[in-house]
Amino acid sequence: MAQVVPAKECIDKAVELIKAGELVVFPTETVYGLGANAFDASAVAKIFEAKGRPQDNPLIVHIADLSQARDVAREIPSTFYALAERFMPGPLTVILFKSDKIPSIVTAGGDTVGIRMPDNIYAREVIAGSFPLAAPSANKSKHISPTLAEHVREDLGDSVRLIMDDGPCRVGIESTVLDLTTDMPTILRPGAVTANMLAEVLGEVSEQGKIIRVAKSPGMKYAHYCPNAETVTAQSIDSAVRAYDEAASAGRRPVIVARDIYRDKIGDRDQISLGITADDYARRIYAALHTAEKSFDYIIVEELAGADIASSVMNRVFKAAGGKRV
Ligand code: TXA
Ligand code: MG
Repeated sequence: MAQVVPAKECIDKAVELIKAGELVVFPTETVYGLGANAFDASAVAKIFEAKGRPQDNPLIVHIADLSQARDVAREIPSTFYALAERFMPGPLTVILFKSDKIPSIVTAGGDTVGIRMPDNIYAREVIAGSFPLAAPSANKSKHISPTLAEHVREDLGDSVRLIMDDGPCRVGIESTVLDLTTDMPTILRPGAVTANMLAEVLGEVSEQGKIIRVAKSPGMKYAHYCPNAETVTAQSIDSAVRAYDEAASAGRRPVIVARDIYRDKIGDRDQISLGITADDYARRIYAALHTAEKSFDYIIVEELAGADIASSVMNRVFKAAGGKRV
């Protein structure tokens, strides 16, 4: 029989269970979730068993911070980070192409994966202490979604060990599901993050066959922060080095703008330092771009993962690069 424990008192226990390949029910701002280590196929199989869920229905992967997105998804577009800055943590799930680390049971065999950062500190502490969590709503398949720990105990009490209780869910209906893998961003399930809110960031979004267009906020509509030289962002230091070498052998003058931790990998290629921390990166980025545009014709900028200042500075850098990535 499940133990129902106040969420803040059972973080360690929850982390332990997840690491052991077990299920944990955790609170979110939308509805309670039934979570398992998203990288562990046999742990995830227990979710389908407990819920009686058909295997062809994919699960959402819950992350604690943006740096985990790269473990879950690949080819992440800059629009994802723009959405994250505004709506994460929050009731929005974004569909992206899946990474190799995500087993196919999570995605029902598909090549895409839903990612969401729940707006509940206890849920994020468990994820940060263990793994991203694959989780559906914590109800028996087809039954009503749970917005109280008590609902979960009645429905799944026999098949889970721990229910983290954080009282009633603030939003009360499931997250908005937005597919970013299609040409036109498409809402697959409406929720508290509405089509209009999404269109303010994306410009346009499709919902139930209708296209919603909104003039982007001035910061989005016009090009901003653009150096007078072609600029791209690099998804990894290896791709930065590759792009550099290709440009150099084509007779161009490339430069890599990156933090010192990559000095060895960059070797004797031209580089401009962004220091060490995310704060250093933010403090130095504009000066680095000013310097770069004066002496070089191809600027390759390291992409920074993470939340807070890292995601804010990436908002500017993606614009500087006009969304071009290598
Ligand atoms: O608010 C929520 O999203 C809650 C909490 C626990 O985070 N979770 C939730 O999960 O509602 P679930 O499994 O009950 O609903 C997930 C929905 C399903 O309709 C599923 O088909 C869709 O998201 N979905 C998940 N991954 C998908 C993918 N790769 N492509 C398309 N749809 C996907
Ligand atoms: Mg559900």
